[in-house]
Amino acid sequence: MARIAVLPGDGVGPEVVWEAMKVLKSAGGRFGIHLEFEEGIVGGAAIDRLRTPLPPETWTLCRASDAILFGAVGGPRWDSLPVDRRPERGLLTLRKDLQLYANLRPVKLFPPLIDASPLKREIVEGVDLLVLRELTGGLYFAEPKGIWPTSDGRGEQGVDTLNYTTPEIERIARVGFQIAGRRRRHLTSVDKANVLASSQLWRRVVTTMAREYPDIELDHILVDNCAMQLIREPRRFDVLLAENTFGDILSDEAAMLAGSIGMLPSASLGEGPGLYEPIHGSAPDIADQDKANPLAAILSAAMLLRHSLRQEPAAAAIEIAVLDVLEQGYRTMDIMQPGKKQVGTARMGDLVAERVVKG
Ligand code: IPM
Ligand code: MG
Repeated sequence: MARIAVLPGDGVGPEVVWEAMKVLKSAGGRFGIHLEFEEGIVGGAAIDRLRTPLPPETWTLCRASDAILFGAVGGPRWDSLPVDRRPERGLLTLRKDLQLYANLRPVKLFPPLIDASPLKREIVEGVDLLVLRELTGGLYFAEPKGIWPTSDGRGEQGVDTLNYTTPEIERIARVGFQIAGRRRRHLTSVDKANVLASSQLWRRVVTTMAREYPDIELDHILVDNCAMQLIREPRRFDVLLAENTFGDILSDEAAMLAGSIGMLPSASLGEGPGLYEPIHGSAPDIADQDKANPLAAILSAAMLLRHSLRQEPAAAAIEIAVLDVLEQGYRTMDIMQPGKKQVGTARMGDLVAERVVKG
């Protein structure tokens, strides 16, 4: 029996998580996996009810689970709150406290969506890369951090610190080498070593570790150049290893290679339970209108089966079902094209779930 903590959150979070649960239940039924779901509140929804973005009950629930299925947090209603009390803090605290340091963001273009990307088909055809983002360090968490008066009394200063230690770099780089070993054996480490000290250490540590992985081809790329190469020649990348902020930015950019950010799943892994979430965020402008694309959440559920529950056949069945439904021409609004059949969030979830059951 596997216990899944379900944290729907805000905006489109609840509706896409619902579809992901539907599909997980179908996969569980077909492959004989007993899944138990328990819901926790997080983000703005938790601020409204309990005045904190991560209530202790939710934290305890996550700790006691085998995996966490996460929707999205945030929205304009909470935008005026200080950073440490915003909905996003709930997610960041979970990442930090559960030490979910390895964030896997696979970017794979499903062939039926080749013309859904705003980029030319010659560029995006065959794209299959993975952004491996360090998730518990760098500018997001390092101290000092805050806003305080300047010493000359002429106003304030906002401070964030970009700090990485050798062990932090080693543990994420190790994941990078291992994942590359299961893919096309090519690891590209992203940094800004021409300017930043943290990047110089990053490059040095990754280079030293490469000796332990002689079968992996390692190269280094500056983050600004990487942003350009992702659009110019994305097929040259297999695994992109990046610190927290660089990975945040590059993964949104890379999402457009897959047609829509509504297609991109993620897994955040560490020592404890893994957390699985679509990378698209809460999209408040389309929430509760049956417009959101649930496929990123559904593909995140497949990653949950693969990484936390070690149920590879069930994970693969979900991915095949998604491909099949796309091949049949079904599209949500964000990936709609002439001649295709537009469906809403719930119908898309039903189609994938039915396909998973049929096998
Ligand atoms: C992401 C998001 C988060 C981040 C936000 C919601 C805090 O953009 O997961 O990429 O910045 O990490
Ligand atoms: Mg982001």
